[in-house]
Amino acid sequence: MILAIESSCDESALALFEPAAGLRREVISSQAEAHVRFGGVVPELASRMHLSALPLLLADYRSELAAVSTIAVTRGPGLLPCLSMGVSLARALALATGKPLVGVNHLRGHVHSPFIGLHAQNPAAFLAARADLLPHLGIIISGGNTLLVRLDTDLKVTVVARTVDDAAGEAFDKGAKLLGLPYPGGALIEQHAARGDVRKYVFPRGIPEKADLRMSFSGLKTALRYQLEKMSDAELAADLPDLCAGYQHAIIEQLVAKAGAALDRGAYRSVGLSGGVANNRTLRQRLTNVALQRGLPMLIAEPKHCGDNAGMIAFAAWADRGLPTGTAAAPAPSLTVEET
Ligand code: KG4
Repeated sequence: MILAIESSCDESALALFEPAAGLRREVISSQAEAHVRFGGVVPELASRMHLSALPLLLADYRSELAAVSTIAVTRGPGLLPCLSMGVSLARALALATGKPLVGVNHLRGHVHSPFIGLHAQNPAAFLAARADLLPHLGIIISGGNTLLVRLDTDLKVTVVARTVDDAAGEAFDKGAKLLGLPYPGGALIEQHAARGDVRKYVFPRGIPEKADLRMSFSGLKTALRYQLEKMSDAELAADLPDLCAGYQHAIIEQLVAKAGAALDRGAYRSVGLSGGVANNRTLRQRLTNVALQRGLPMLIAEPKHCGDNAGMIAFAAWADRGLPTGTAAAPAPSLTVEET
């Protein structure tokens, strides 16, 4: 049984995973509310909140610690003061119990999270079922990353495409801020967009050329700013759903176009979607169509595994690495998805 600890940003989380049974006892303590008034995550505050939350969460696992065989912890990428809290706790646990410690790449947690459902369906047949789905195109869209990656049959991960500037989640959050919505604004943009007309405000598509797989989202918020400068507060309030619909549409259309172009270039056998922005229902629907049009199965991380969570860290510790023992776990804030 693997006990995993996640603390890379503003969620303190723990989870247990058993290869023969699956994930259980997943807990998350979110700090999101504490950071709202700052308009973003404050690393020092986040770190102190992990320091108080993690031991409290761990106390509830006391009766199961004896059955734990491996301790897994997110080693990066993330905010250094936050990563340090999880890694320190994991090291102390490993030292006190004599159990091996595995450092896990948070981004590879996102890469493997769409496969958690496949494992849950049939743990015994999981490895064979996954082998039939590789190579796989992983679409990871969060507040800090926008990546298309290839997961090969040997589990090697290669970046196929990425944003050259802002992440898609960042574009949602910065757009929300301009529209007067609180941080993090992605889900609120989605809510307002549901009542809006996507044709009323047309925003640019970053890098529209199909031959170029790179994505760009920073021009979008500038376009929104120029649009808002021409409008009164009353007009903004009246047209908020249409503005959100047009803005969300521009983000999603670029992601859909690049995912489609990437699939047409490589021989893939499945597509996966994960990361906080993967909670967006329109995005899920559009990307599912992209996969289905090409006859490929679409695996989407469950909502509880889209944002930061320890379940995907426990799962990736096993599904990605085959659990090497005694791996050093030092915080690695700038780890890339290609590193293990
Ligand atoms: O993966 P995640 O929890 O952590 C970071 O990378 O920080 O992703 C958070 C991001 C935020 O940018 C948030 O606005 C976005 O995911 N997000 C959404 C939705 N739910 C969360 N964006 C669009 N639509 C949503 N429903």
